[in-house]
Amino acid sequence: MLGDKKVVYSAVQPTGCITLGNFLGAINNWLKMQDDYVNIFAIADLHALTVRQNPAEYRKRAMSFFAQYLACGLDPQKSILYFQSHVHQHAELAWILNCFTYVGEMSRMTQFKDKSAKHAENINMGLLDYPVLMAADILLYQSDFVPVGIDQKQHLEISRDVAIRFNNLYSPTFTVPEPFFGKQGTKIFSLQDPTQKMSKSDPDPNGYINLIDDPDTIVKKFRRAVTDCDGRVIYSEDKPGVSNLLTILATVTDRTVADVEKDFVGKGYAELKNEVADAVVERLRPIREQYDRLINDKEYLVSVYKEGAESASRIAQRTLNKVYRKVGLVER
Ligand code: TRP
Repeated sequence: MLGDKKVVYSAVQPTGCITLGNFLGAINNWLKMQDDYVNIFAIADLHALTVRQNPAEYRKRAMSFFAQYLACGLDPQKSILYFQSHVHQHAELAWILNCFTYVGEMSRMTQFKDKSAKHAENINMGLLDYPVLMAADILLYQSDFVPVGIDQKQHLEISRDVAIRFNNLYSPTFTVPEPFFGKQGTKIFSLQDPTQKMSKSDPDPNGYINLIDDPDTIVKKFRRAVTDCDGRVIYSEDKPGVSNLLTILATVTDRTVADVEKDFVGKGYAELKNEVADAVVERLRPIREQYDRLINDKEYLVSVYKEGAESASRIAQRTLNKVYRKVGLVER
């Protein structure tokens, strides 16, 4: 809790691009929570260093991500928005938590195993330690809720385990965070392989809609979307492509899938694709326009992220002081 509000913490690695899937699955929900919770949101730029990045590109992408989140409507008056690397307490708490986390726990993590297989030439300590830094992110702010997708569930479990372990060894220090799943029906799948989640790191750009794709590109990508040869526009488990398009159309227009389905009785896939494309273009248009303004206003962006880091740091330091005292470090 902070004041009389619960804290919702979230962070995103600045890799790949922000997709329509991220928007409909996560960002859209956060926007609705901005008034009722203390929302803290970071660009997890330390986390993404666990795989090699091109420095110039990385810096640019991190800024672009920041501007895109603002463009989506995350409001710096209501939420704390910052870069993880600007708040030194993250790395400091991660060190302490390292001393309360077991190597065995870390090496069993699904994502560690996946990433080790994928980057066999660079299985660095950061990769192993990734969940501990994530625990530090969350625990520094006494976060009550963390909106997570299924792929981050295991990491959140570890954050909880470490928090409970520390609290039991000393005395209540950390709020034990709860997962927060977005409402159903917002999981968006790849346009090229609708059995897979729409992913920002998909090597095939036709699989996802980038939040800042231009309208022509969006239309083309939907035209190419994989469907099936059944021909009926209905939502059904054995029709993942068509169902995905219906879900996107329903979510973007704030309608139910059943309601949207009715529009397509007697119509085909071409009509469905055109309608989804139009709806998505219209939904993303103001975001792209706002993004174009923001990305050219460096001064504004800097002022927002500086202020965000200052607010974050103040909260984080309170927790870190407590932790340092409890483990027996000499007061400075
Ligand atoms: N690991 C998360 C991801 O890849 C990003 C992340 C870093 C995060 N720190 C976090 C998410 C803290 C939630 C809370 O998606």
